[in-house]
Amino acid sequence: MEPDFDRIIDKSGTYALKEYKYRKSECLPMWVADMDFACPPEVLEAVRQRAEHPILGYTVAKELDEIIAERMAEFYGWQIDPDWIVYTAGVVSGLNCSCRAAENRSRAAVNTPIYPPFLSVPPFQGMNLEKSRLTLNASRWEIDFDNLRQTLSGGDSLFIFCNPHNPSGRCFKRSELERIAQICLETGALLCSDEIHCDLLLGESGHTPIASIGREIEQNSITLMSPSKTFNIAGMMTGFAVIPNRKIRQRFAYAKENLSSHPNVFGIKAAKAAYQHGESWRKALLEYLTQNRNLVTERLSKYGIVPAEPEATYLYWLDCTKTGLENPHAHFERYGVGLSDGKDFDAPGWVRLNFASPRSILNLALERIEKALNNQSL
Ligand SMILES: Cc1ncc(COP(=O)(O)O)c(C=O)c1O
Repeated sequence: MEPDFDRIIDKSGTYALKEYKYRKSECLPMWVADMDFACPPEVLEAVRQRAEHPILGYTVAKELDEIIAERMAEFYGWQIDPDWIVYTAGVVSGLNCSCRAAENRSRAAVNTPIYPPFLSVPPFQGMNLEKSRLTLNASRWEIDFDNLRQTLSGGDSLFIFCNPHNPSGRCFKRSELERIAQICLETGALLCSDEIHCDLLLGESGHTPIASIGREIEQNSITLMSPSKTFNIAGMMTGFAVIPNRKIRQRFAYAKENLSSHPNVFGIKAAKAAYQHGESWRKALLEYLTQNRNLVTERLSKYGIVPAEPEATYLYWLDCTKTGLENPHAHFERYGVGLSDGKDFDAPGWVRLNFASPRSILNLALERIEKALNNQSL
């Protein structure tokens, strides 16, 4: 059966985080990064089947090893040894473990604007945070390579990279990844690449894991991935790291043991079903999301708040700094749309729209956003 992404699903009683924030208002929740779509039926069935077994104790995720290794080879041409995989309770916990694994490094650098935990995790793990801003060139977000090199120089940095990038939706090209890898190797920075959005590619975009581009960078990297965003199973708390270098992997695994960051018993089954049986669902999803993205572009471009279209993710990064609005986030909420506030991403005056909703809901949200931009009476 074809997935029905137009279906509006009532989440009441599920304590969904996205809705919970606006439970006392009429605001449409278009903020936190999960989708309003039912996950693939095979995933739901796998979870149901697991629940039939009466024991739900600690579980190892070994049954995913070969599936992940095969996926890396098939999707990205990256040959990995299953022994390189370390499972985590999601990717943010992998970010924490990466900081811990970056022993003797006192600094962590990130490209801002950025998904908020990139700003908070390094200081939480006792590291100094350094920022290298992305620049906007001809409607494309780009790395300022000179600035990045300067930021990482000194040999005691961890570079936490995000590709595809949240919130800009940028999907970096191989030539850009090669330059980043080169900079990390030259400066002695350890690379942690969060690639959680790697399978959410819009239009013609393609993904290359940065660690896959050469042996040297592979040995100097931690790659964080998860099926959670793509298959809408973020509540399953299941992610993994691919760490080719044995010493880095041991340090990461040690951190993970101490942070008790193990994947969830249902998450393992959900991930397995998603990777093994979710491909036609994913393809249909990407078509739907690409159309949603195009709709947002079409409706909002005329307001001058669309500096660049996302190439991946279901997140649209909107520049409201020239609208004259003092607090765009609060303004849109007054008009009934709950977006993510750019100030949490180190970009006050910007907002992030999650467009992974049934088209009728997205249309309603866009109507409200347009009303808000026109300052029409409420
Ligand atoms: C770049 C990035 N990393 C990590 C996460 C969260 O990962 P998890 O829920 O697996 O901790 C998100 C969620 O939006 C994200 O966008």
